[in-house]
Amino acid sequence: MGRALVEGQKREEWQSRWGFILATVGSAVGLGNVWRFPTMVVRGGGGAFLILYLGLVLLIGIPALVMELSLGRRTNRNTLGAFSHLRPGSRWWLVGALSMLAVFVVLSFYSVIAGWSLIYLVGSTAGIFSQQGPAALTETFTRLSEHPFLPAMAAALFIGLTASVVASGVAHGIERVSKALLPAMVLLLVVLMFRSLFLEGALGGALWLIRPDPEALNLQTALAALGQVFFSFSLGMGAVITYGSYLSRGSDIPRNSLIIGFSDVGIAILAALVVVPALFALGISPEIGPGVIFVTLLGIFNTLPFPAVWASLFFLMLTFAALTSTIAMLEVLVAYLVDEKRWSRSLASTLLAVLILVAALPSALGQGVLNHIEIAGLTILDAADQLVSNLMLPVAGLMTAIFVGWVWGTGPVALELSLGSTRSRLSRLITLAIRYILPIGMAYILITGIL
Ligand code: TRP
Repeated sequence: MGRALVEGQKREEWQSRWGFILATVGSAVGLGNVWRFPTMVVRGGGGAFLILYLGLVLLIGIPALVMELSLGRRTNRNTLGAFSHLRPGSRWWLVGALSMLAVFVVLSFYSVIAGWSLIYLVGSTAGIFSQQGPAALTETFTRLSEHPFLPAMAAALFIGLTASVVASGVAHGIERVSKALLPAMVLLLVVLMFRSLFLEGALGGALWLIRPDPEALNLQTALAALGQVFFSFSLGMGAVITYGSYLSRGSDIPRNSLIIGFSDVGIAILAALVVVPALFALGISPEIGPGVIFVTLLGIFNTLPFPAVWASLFFLMLTFAALTSTIAMLEVLVAYLVDEKRWSRSLASTLLAVLILVAALPSALGQGVLNHIEIAGLTILDAADQLVSNLMLPVAGLMTAIFVGWVWGTGPVALELSLGSTRSRLSRLITLAIRYILPIGMAYILITGIL
């Protein structure tokens, strides 16, 4: 089978099956697992949210992973190229373009939060925060996020770090770094979980996570859970398509999707077992947003012996989690320039890093110097977040599902899956979900989200 994209130029592939799995799980595990998921579970009535979340992972999350991986592997191309390759001359490439635009916007604010994490990592290691009480921590966080240049510098450093990994290539850069960082991250989370569960009063929090509140079993919770599945699995942004494009023909896509999906869920639950018991131990109710991490959790570490150690471990884990996600996002854009414009990987990474930094400046400065600028009452960072999560991702996800289920068609998808998988019954169920459940689910989020 011709693996070369253009004559004489061989496209990269993952070196090993586990390298691919760790990189894809690394892209999925990020800030979304560490603070968004715990908060959603608490808001969604603990076990009630968990049941709905797990159901939607099976019905929508896993089929959507299969859908994006197949699209990538079939075409061996970047997000935009995947659409235009299967339907040349049509306008379907616009879906890929929309996904890429979404990635760009997400990178512009995600790298600012990742930069905060880097600053807190350095600060915790130096023991700067360990003497601070809750009020002082709040003030520190406000002062930091309003600082005229520190957040921008940290974001620049983080973007530079991301670009240097992506520039080193798929196998040598992304795969190697993910193979090192993901296990380290899980280990750190497990250590932190034990610390958290042994706090006095923590058990209430852990039980709360699994006790289903029947009143919360409603449509609103299901919708929140669906949004979380999409965000957490990195769907609708071309990242899974791009990572799938470096897969070899023989890999078993349905099986790998199950492993990737359940690893992401497992790590999210692990993170919830770090955060929620700790919050319950101090009788604090979790709220959405960075405050949970940068103020509340840090305050809890400060009540323990060796606060600087716990805080450093936590921010190290968070920085790793963010880095494996920003790598995947940058790769979406780099793959486009490499495949379609035949740029070199290093030139593409460097130039994009500069563009992303420029785009990140408004989010980095929006809390401070630019805080007079508000978009619909939100800071620039929050507005960018809302624009992507509530509009761009669901639209791109819906269009991708329609494209794969109805335009490309379930026949070719089933054929693609049969290349590496012998489980034809499972594949058949998944293709049915791609054709019917996914478009309906996505249309539903979009409509209710807009209303
Ligand atoms: N899944 C990531 C998280 O939980 C966020 C994310 C959304 C992402 N879309 C992505 C990461 C695309 C990489 C690529 O934090």
